[in-house]
Amino acid sequence: MQVGIDQIGFYTPNKYVDMVDLAHARNEDVDKYLIGIGQSQMSVADQTQDAVSMGINATQYLPQIDREQVGLLIFGTESGVDQSKSASLFVKSALNLAPEVRTFEVKEACFGMTAGVMIARDYVRLHPYHSAIVIGSDLARYGIGTSGEVTQGAGSVSLLIKANPRILTLNDGHSAFSQDVNDFWRPNNSATALVDGKYSTQVYLDFFQRTFTDYQKLKKLQTSDFTALIYHLPFTKMGLKANRLAIADQDEATSELLATNFTTAACYGRVVGNIYTASLYLSLLSLLENSILPADALIGLFSYGSGAMGEFFSGKTVANYEKMLNPSGTKKLLQRRQKLAIPEYERIFTTALSDPIDGTTLISDEEAGYWYFAGTKNRIRQYRQK
Ligand code: COA
Repeated sequence: MQVGIDQIGFYTPNKYVDMVDLAHARNEDVDKYLIGIGQSQMSVADQTQDAVSMGINATQYLPQIDREQVGLLIFGTESGVDQSKSASLFVKSALNLAPEVRTFEVKEACFGMTAGVMIARDYVRLHPYHSAIVIGSDLARYGIGTSGEVTQGAGSVSLLIKANPRILTLNDGHSAFSQDVNDFWRPNNSATALVDGKYSTQVYLDFFQRTFTDYQKLKKLQTSDFTALIYHLPFTKMGLKANRLAIADQDEATSELLATNFTTAACYGRVVGNIYTASLYLSLLSLLENSILPADALIGLFSYGSGAMGEFFSGKTVANYEKMLNPSGTKKLLQRRQKLAIPEYERIFTTALSDPIDGTTLISDEEAGYWYFAGTKNRIRQYRQK
């Protein structure tokens, strides 16, 4: 029995900043942002979009969930809204899932969603009549004027994992590597992350090489067996560096194919920015919606969470997978975003760092149908659908 990704949903908030504007405002060369770091735009969440509301919105894009079948709901995030209650319970309630569903939140920086995918894969293998929903949802925030500012973003990806999937089968096995390091972290009393960006890139590349080499040995695979290698993309240059390592000693045809597919997989991340846990799965969506791959194309996925945890695994495309995707819907979602002037972005960003005063009702400017955070009542978070 094959198990894997049957459906993919994606949501990003309705505002963005253009990197040309940001470079001008920060007195940086535009090419540093566009080429050196490799980001063109970043989505910005106002106070009404948090990890939970974005996660619910991403599930609204799963075309056909059979609510009776869902037995597991996992929410990976590093932008949690509560120290105790899981973000997944809000989603379960919004989706009207059965009380028997097992549900919880996972945290290991940007690795959280992959942890959820692996648990879901193994769960469905044991319970083939059940499916699992896995969500990654995050706000990447470093702060105004910081060096990490250009690598911010906001968004969520949801996956339906089930038997006989229609998009990507997940192969057995994986290669994992972890080490206690301090490349990126966010203390409990801080709404923005702390990062040693250059060190983080070194650790990421080191973990990529270790897990990719180990995986190839384990599965007796060559680099040329892969149609695409896709990556966790905090900013596109980071993945590009890993991809360059992967293709360094390859023949021309392999190098060209993997370089082209890297660029395709990075299209959405380049304009959405970092969405932490879901970033790897946004790369997958970008690859699948913007290229035509044959059935059984082998795709290698590199997941990385600072702190740090890396994992390489793979999947194979299912024939006619494109029927389960909606590239024009994704285009519409991205195009609906309103461009913010830098002072407006700074105001929205700063306001969203804290919750409104308890009892205040927030109004969302999202389109009808989307969910949003409406404020707290008696310090209980309220989520509403517009
Ligand atoms: N034209 C083209 N490229 C340019 C340029 C120009 N005018 N000016 C600079 N660059 C290049 C630099 O050469 C460098 O490229 P390289 O990395 O290939 O060497 C790149 O742009 C960035 O320049 P740098 O001086 O290193 O930028 P910075 O000190 O502002 O820091 C980051 C950049 C990415 C390290 C910083 O934004 C950061 O820490 N971001 C967060 C990282 C993160 O998310 N970590 C956790 C990941 S899991």
